[in-house]
Amino acid sequence: MSGDWAGHRMQAADLDFECFGALSEAQAQARILDARARLGKRAVLLCHHYQRADVYRHADLTGDSLKLARLAAQTDAEFIVFCGVHFMAEVADILSRPEQTAILPDLAAGCSMADMANLAKVERCWRELAAALGAADEKITPVTYINSAADLKAFCGEHGGIVCTSTNAPKIVDWALARREKVLFFPDQHLGRWTGFKKGIALDHMAVWDPDLENGGLSPEEIENARILLWKGHCSVHQMFQVEHIQRWRTRYPDGRVISHPECNLDVCRESDYVGSTEYIRDTIAEAPGNTRWLVGTELNLVNRLAEQMKPQGKTVQFMAPMVCMCSTMQRIDPQHLAWTLENLAAGRVVNPIRVPVNEAGPARTALARMLEIS
Ligand code: 13P
Ligand code: SF4
Repeated sequence: MSGDWAGHRMQAADLDFECFGALSEAQAQARILDARARLGKRAVLLCHHYQRADVYRHADLTGDSLKLARLAAQTDAEFIVFCGVHFMAEVADILSRPEQTAILPDLAAGCSMADMANLAKVERCWRELAAALGAADEKITPVTYINSAADLKAFCGEHGGIVCTSTNAPKIVDWALARREKVLFFPDQHLGRWTGFKKGIALDHMAVWDPDLENGGLSPEEIENARILLWKGHCSVHQMFQVEHIQRWRTRYPDGRVISHPECNLDVCRESDYVGSTEYIRDTIAEAPGNTRWLVGTELNLVNRLAEQMKPQGKTVQFMAPMVCMCSTMQRIDPQHLAWTLENLAAGRVVNPIRVPVNEAGPARTALARMLEIS
């Protein structure tokens, strides 16, 4: 298909994705702009900080997962086009009004960490914990990282639990431990461990629950002894950053500052000067004095963007790992998928709506609302 589409005389079949996959970068960009102009305020584009530059440039609103959840709850737009990953669009659907529609331009944009926990495994874990400890609902607060499917948020809503993000995890864990003696934290062991560590919980009171083993691979004593049970999940991007990367860099730049996302392992977080969410990373570097040098342990699209944005202030922003660490799933939201989504919307057809079933959305909203109230 050529880029001479300005006459808007497309046939229904032309809006199949196949035709869009072949668009050049320039064609896709032009068609996004054209469709957006026709949609006006009916559609809002939310972009996570990890989104690729050729899509991020079209964002109306950007943020980390907490900020985007809030923005999704506040917008009046009819269509919330989410340039992020699947769980983020689910949250937008849960928190928006019924007459609004959340859309994910490519349904293959999932989160590999979120996929490391599922309802069957969490329910089995809950049964095994109940057998080991007595009534699980009295002893353990389930806390799910927002990087999880809606049915797991619903599980937390139904069992007195809550959702957290990388921004508010410390407050949420405080809330959880004030209610019950233990926390089951899923699916990211690293965010859970860093949060527990910051609260002064000893490492031997944080046990890893392996969902593929009976009783999580733990003895009854280990379960009894644990204050936080850490689900054995991780982010495949952030696991690439290693403490040696920081140490090598510090020998060259002893005055440099290191900032990391809490999905990095504990050693990386401990060795960093600052640890926080993507929004925190962005704000911290933006607000730092000019001519400072930064090593950043998070996804490459964000680090590249920061490196460009900070140049005029004389700040140097470097990526922590020697290899490419990108969120390959978020990367799937490309200009071609965005053009396809927006042109369909402009033509009156909703593609890739994300609709969480009502029976999940209700309790998931409860768990999210608890989080939003606290943070
Ligand atoms: P943020 O909370 O910083 O948005 O992080 C979400 C995420 O998926 C990071 O990998
Ligand atoms: Fe999921 Fe990791 Fe991508 Fe974040 S960076 S969305 S945790 S796969």
